Amino acid sequence: MRSGKSAENIRPRVRNRSHYFRQLWADVHSLYEIAIGRPRSYRPSVLPNPIFYKQAFSFLKEGILLLLMRRKRTTLLRYKPTYNEDGLFTNHNCDFIDDPLFKEAYELGFATGSAKGWHARWRVYTACWLADRATRMDGDFVECGTNKGLTARAIAHYTNFGSLNKKFYLVDTFSGLVPEYESKSERQRENPTLIYEECFEEVKQTFSEFNNVVICRGSIPDILSSIPVANICFLHIDLNNALPEMAAGNHFWERVVPHGAILLDDYAYPGYDEQKVAWDHFAEDKGLQILSLPTGQGLILKPS
Ligand SMILES: C[S@@+](CC[C@H](N)C(=O)[O-])C[C@H]1O[C@@H](n2cnc3c(N)ncnc32)[C@H](O)[C@@H]1O
Repeated sequence: MRSGKSAENIRPRVRNRSHYFRQLWADVHSLYEIAIGRPRSYRPSVLPNPIFYKQAFSFLKEGILLLLMRRKRTTLLRYKPTYNEDGLFTNHNCDFIDDPLFKEAYELGFATGSAKGWHARWRVYTACWLADRATRMDGDFVECGTNKGLTARAIAHYTNFGSLNKKFYLVDTFSGLVPEYESKSERQRENPTLIYEECFEEVKQTFSEFNNVVICRGSIPDILSSIPVANICFLHIDLNNALPEMAAGNHFWERVVPHGAILLDDYAYPGYDEQKVAWDHFAEDKGLQILSLPTGQGLILKPS
């Protein structure tokens, strides 16, 4: 049997087709009126429902974004950050920022100008937290690499250091890095944040209200043996070059009390890979692992 199109079969289809185009025109016209801002309810009969356009638009938008991001190797984050500074972007709770004591401490530290306007609250908070923990332990505090004192000044306030029966040794040239202790590749870094100005008098002034803060001027490692510290419960190392950092680590390791903390400021920070490699060897020798923190810091807790 032939299944060909008879005249009867064709006619209704032709009628339907003209009806279809009339409806299509009506839909397009309504869409046009909506587009030019004439309020009109749109009840499509041939074209898809308005929701379709919305979905198609957002699908297209996301697709284009993903393509662009793949090219630029970036990621789309679908949350509002609670914290976005110093290379750390997160929506995690960081209500320590509004803690009045921390706020005061951070502001005092920041006012020293040590960070040249660069905010790093989570890093400073980590240091303050560990310093506060150390107030309940035997031993003194040592910081190798103070500059004008962002972290040290915040710690001094946060722990009410003046009231403690402890000393806080701040060790620095107070005039910048020592070229002879930098490796060839460290010397080639072109990073304006690695340029430090003379600040010894300023630092003396900043800590003048604390009788138990001891400012030790000199280059590390040369000065280390003259620092009269026997027990250390908090050691902060922030020298921005590997050789003096390792010299300080090796020199002070035996003096760090059990459970005492060594906080490495730039352990996982981009651009300081030589320090990370050196510290990883140091930890491996001692059968330890350094805790890598999302702030870029590294933490060693001395075993008992
Ligand atoms: C990143 S800054 C320290 C910042 C400080 N921790 C703060 O919270 O503001 C590094 C410091 O390390 C000091 N430094 C670098 N190499 C040193 C060395 N071999 N001996 C002594 N100080 C050094 C520099 O003078 C500089 O002040």
